[in-house]
This record gives sequence, C-alpha cells and structure tokens, in this order.
Amino acid sequence: MPNNAERTYIMVKPDGVQRGIVGEIIARFEKRGFKLVALKMVHATKEHLEKHYADLAQKPFFPGLIKYMASGPVVAMVWEGLDAVKTGRMMLGATNPLASAPGTIRGDYALAVGRNICHGSDSVESAEHEIKLWFPEGTIQHTLSSAEWVFE
Ligand code: PPS
Repeated sequence: MPNNAERTYIMVKPDGVQRGIVGEIIARFEKRGFKLVALKMVHATKEHLEKHYADLAQKPFFPGLIKYMASGPVVAMVWEGLDAVKTGRMMLGATNPLASAPGTIRGDYALAVGRNICHGSDSVESAEHEIKLWFPEGTIQHTLSSAEWVFE
C-alpha cells in the first residue's frame, strides 16, 4: 500500500528568503500535490544549526555553512505525500546547482553550492529527526479536500 503520509522537511535557506523565492518553492510543492503540515519563519541560532548539520561537523565547509545559514531567517516547512522525501529531493535538484537539471528549483534559481537556496531531507529517518528538531511543537493534522484527486 502506498505511503501517502510520508513526510519531509523542506527549508528555504537565507538566500532563498532574501531573493524572494519562498512563494515559488511553496507553489511548486503545492501544485505537485503535496500537503503542507507545518510552516514557520525562523532566524536560527548557530547552536540549532550545528544540531541540524551535526553529520557535517568535520567537513571543511562546515563553519561557512553555519555562518550562511545563520545570516538571516529561513522558512521551515513539513510537506506530506507519496514518496515525499525522494520526490522532494528531485524537485530541489542536485546539491550543487551546477549539476541541477533545469526545471528543478536549484537548476532554475541557483549557481553555487554555498548558496543553493533550499534544503530537503535525504532519507525518511533524517526527515523524522529534522521535523522533531525544527517543529518540537508538532505538525498539523488535516485533510485536504483535493486529496482524492491526487491519490488513487
Ligand atoms: S557531503 O560532503 O557529501 O556530505 O555533502 P553533501 O551531502 O553534498 O551536502 C550536505 C550539505 O552541505 C552543503 N554543502 C555545502 N555548503 C557550503 N559549501 C560547500 N562547499 C558545501 N558542500 C555541501 C549542502 O548544500 C548540503 O546542505 P543541505 O542543506 O542539506 O542542502
């Protein structure tokens, strides 16, 4: 049975907010058929971002990544739907925008890996972890009237 309730954590990074791409990113996920179950704007602390990116602590780009992510507010979201993690990553495009296909968010709006405008969970497990980290208050349970037109 397909898991229509898979959830992924999607975040518009500070450059995406400053460049006015928030609405575009939300529109793409809505139009694709995903359901928004949590949304907030946050100016994250370095400590919070260090938790989010803990796996990357040893990478040479880690300090720059944390500085960039703490440089302004981000838009944190949880989207739900069939294969949300994998499809969400596909919609964002490859991590390095130079390798992102046109038609993907990064492929249409970004050039540099250090300014790649959005984040998406890379597995169901990391989605669960990231959703708890960014939305300790929980997400919203609701049914969209369009659901029967999106799923069989
Ligand atoms: S790695 O090295 O394979 O573990 O990294 P990768 O999975 O490709 O990317 C993990 C996140 O690190 C960001 N990243 C960078 N930021 C700044 N500068 C450089 N050079 C860089 N390389 C990778 C990348 O955007 C990923 O962030 P998220 O938020 O998950 O997209």
